Amino acid sequence: MSIATPINLVLLSLFVVTEPPPVVFRVFTPTTLLEFNGQDDKPVYLAVRGRVFDVTPGRNFYGPGGPYENFAGRDASRGLAHQSFDLEMLTEDLKGPLDDLKDLDADQLENLQGWEERFLEKYLVVGKLVAEGDAEAPKS
Ligand code: HEM
Repeated sequence: MSIATPINLVLLSLFVVTEPPPVVFRVFTPTTLLEFNGQDDKPVYLAVRGRVFDVTPGRNFYGPGGPYENFAGRDASRGLAHQSFDLEMLTEDLKGPLDDLKDLDADQLENLQGWEERFLEKYLVVGKLVAEGDAEAPKS
């Protein structure tokens, strides 16, 4: 008997229509995150304290020419904490350790937490950021 019975086709179409796209939780390094900097049609991601957010719905903010484009594809933690999108807020060495943010003061930590809460409400977490060479890092 064929599996393409009418009832199966109806079930299949329901499945296809109602199933949201699977969210695959991935482990990123600063280098693999950079691919999602909004320079092409790929999703736009940024990291905050090790969480990678899919900020594609905010492409106007983070895409090329957007006010916060520097954050796209990068660890935005320090910039969010300092309320600054200056380039020097970004970790320069993508192959080095992650920014440990140890020097942040109480106000900056509060800023950062505020942004983090906003992002958790607004965006999907699609993965975590680890340093290159971390045991969890994808082999490249
Ligand atoms: C002249 C100064 C600034 C103006 C006029 C401004 C304006 C705005 C506006 C209108 C929004 C959209 C709010 C909404 O509709 O949700 C926004 C969001 C945002 N701003 Fe600013 N901003 C300024 C400075 C900054 C700075 C210095 C930072 C650096 C951290 C920053 C980071 C953000 C972020 C991360 C968002 C959230 C975007 C999102 O929802 O994904 N802004 N800003």
